[in-house]
Formats: sequence, C-alpha cells, structure tokens
Amino acid sequence: MLQMLELRTVGAPLAGPLGEFFERLRAAGDERQFHPHPLDRAEADRRTRYDGRDLYYVLMDEARVIGYGMLRGWDEGYDIPSLGIAVHPDERGKGLSRLIMLFLHAAAKRRGAGTVRLTVNADNATALRLYREIGYTLRDMGGGRLEGIIRL
Ligand SMILES: CC(C)(COP(=O)(O)OP(=O)(O)OC[C@H]1O[C@@H](n2cnc3c(N)ncnc32)[C@H](O)[C@@H]1OP(=O)(O)O)[C@@H](O)C(=O)NCCC(=O)NCCS
Repeated sequence: MLQMLELRTVGAPLAGPLGEFFERLRAAGDERQFHPHPLDRAEADRRTRYDGRDLYYVLMDEARVIGYGMLRGWDEGYDIPSLGIAVHPDERGKGLSRLIMLFLHAAAKRRGAGTVRLTVNADNATALRLYREIGYTLRDMGGGRLEGIIRL
C-alpha cells in the first residue's frame, strides 16, 4: 500500500481533513484526555486560519490527517510552550507519537525554548508512559492532573 508520510504546518487547505480527524477523536471518546480546544469542524476551520506565534502541525498520510501536535503559550506571553499531541485512533501503537513529539521539541528549540511543558490526566496511562520514556519529569498538580517538564 502506498504510504506518503508528511509533517506539515496546519494551513488553509487542511480544514476538511483536520475536521475529520477531530470528529474521529471525539467519536473515539478522546475528548476527556485531549481538550486543548473543541474537537469539531468549526475549530478545524479556525485552526487553519490561525496566524499567531504558536505552532500547530499535522502528520499526514496522503490526504489524511493521522496525527496532530501543537506548542502553545507564546501568544499569551509565556517563554515555556505547552505541548499537545493526539494520534488517529486507527494509527496508534506504531510509534507516531514519538516522531511528532521529537519534531515538536526541535521546533521549540529553534524558537529559542529551553524547556517544554505539558499537562496530562493522571489516568491517561498510555500518554504517561510515553512522556516518561521520552524523558519528561512529571509532578502532581492536584485535581487528577500532572504537569510534565523536559529540558531540551
Ligand atoms: C497518547 C497517544 C498520543 C500515543 O500515541 P501512539 O502513537 O499510539 O503512541 P505509541 O505508538 O508510542 O503507543 C503507545 C502505547 O499505546 C499502546 N498501543 C499499542 N497498540 C495500540 C493500538 N492499536 N491502539 C491504542 N493503543 C495501542 C501500547 O501500549 C503502546 O505502548 P508501547 O508500544 O510503548 O508498549 C495516543 O494514544 C492518543 O492520541 N491518545 C488520545 C489523545 C491523548 O491522550 N493525548 C495526550 C493528552 S495529554
């Protein structure tokens, strides 16, 4: 099967595929674990028209969005960006999350960041294992949330 993997900055032509991806995450019940913004087509449209300092990327297989990663916080004036990541439910367990995370770390470093942070639900075992393996230090924030920090 032909496979064309590509990491791309979220932009105008991707509104449809990104909307489909968000709806698929919602249908899989991922909204509780991943809620940086609403997961619907209107939000996909907003993301593709976004023009600020924060960074949004998609991993594409041909015309399909199979992964999504972001670094946010610069727009709000923070020096340490917050990382967010989601992989298409049919594409999990293939190591794609690592690829996206290392890419995001490189993008953050190029922007001058020395550290990246993230927050995660304490019951998101898959994400916790991934973040620990990559080298994040996790601390309990209370309320069922953990904060992860990594020095780049
Ligand atoms: C967390 C997430 C990004 C991991 O993505 P991924 O690309 O599946 O990551 P990996 O390929 O490293 O697999 C992680 C683990 O998933 C499990 N897994 C394996 N096959 C799987 C499958 N078909 N479906 C789901 N999970 C699977 C394995 O335990 C694997 O760990 P291991 O390979 O180290 O033993 C992904 O599960 C996801 O998008 N979850 C919903 C959104 C979310 O929780 N984001 C993080 C919020 S803080």
